[in-house]
Amino acid sequence: MEGDIQAGLKHAMRVYPQGVTVVTAGGRGGPVGLTVSSFTSVSLNPPLVLVSIAKSSGVYEELKGAQAYAVNFLADDQKIVSDRFAGRTGGKDRFEGMKFARGATGSPVIAGARAVLECKAWKVYDGGDHSLFVGEVVVAKTFNSKRPLVYYSQQYTTTEHMEYPAPPSDIVW
Ligand SMILES: Cc1cc2nc3c(=O)[nH]c(=O)nc-3n(C[C@H](O)[C@H](O)[C@H](O)COP(=O)(O)O)c2cc1C
Repeated sequence: MEGDIQAGLKHAMRVYPQGVTVVTAGGRGGPVGLTVSSFTSVSLNPPLVLVSIAKSSGVYEELKGAQAYAVNFLADDQKIVSDRFAGRTGGKDRFEGMKFARGATGSPVIAGARAVLECKAWKVYDGGDHSLFVGEVVVAKTFNSKRPLVYYSQQYTTTEHMEYPAPPSDIVW
């Protein structure tokens, strides 16, 4: 019965399109990051956002101990970045050969991302086999006018093109 619910939940979630982010942190032994689609904004005042991270993830403890992290919104030409940070491409160091800058909080900001939210760790709530990381946004930047990367039905896709102005970024990669 429980298995049926889990299978049903997984199947239903597949038909729910989600944007793709990479959550990064400075890391004690070097930068860490993982691909995350369970992102949402929570509050404007204070400005809070949430990501749900599996407790089994190799970077879980590092993220839990981090004082700050960044949520990088991927663009549709960054499928390879998503696969890399989901551990799908092999290789130990996910940042190897990856262009990134350190943001104001010291968190890695991935070059070519559509936008970034840098967060101060605010609270972590229990969420079953995941934890809900709520962060206070201290820097919010939009970099370009690329289409967003979207995950739907276990595949990458994007939206129909709509033009949005991209405010200039002061980050230099
Ligand atoms: C499109 C996509 C979305 C993902 N979303 C999440 C998520 O919201 N939370 C999460 O914990 N893992 C998510 N993952 C899986 C993690 O990226 C993956 O399990 C992790 O990078 C594995 O890290 P580890 O090898 O260090 O355990 C997602 C993977 C993909 C491809």
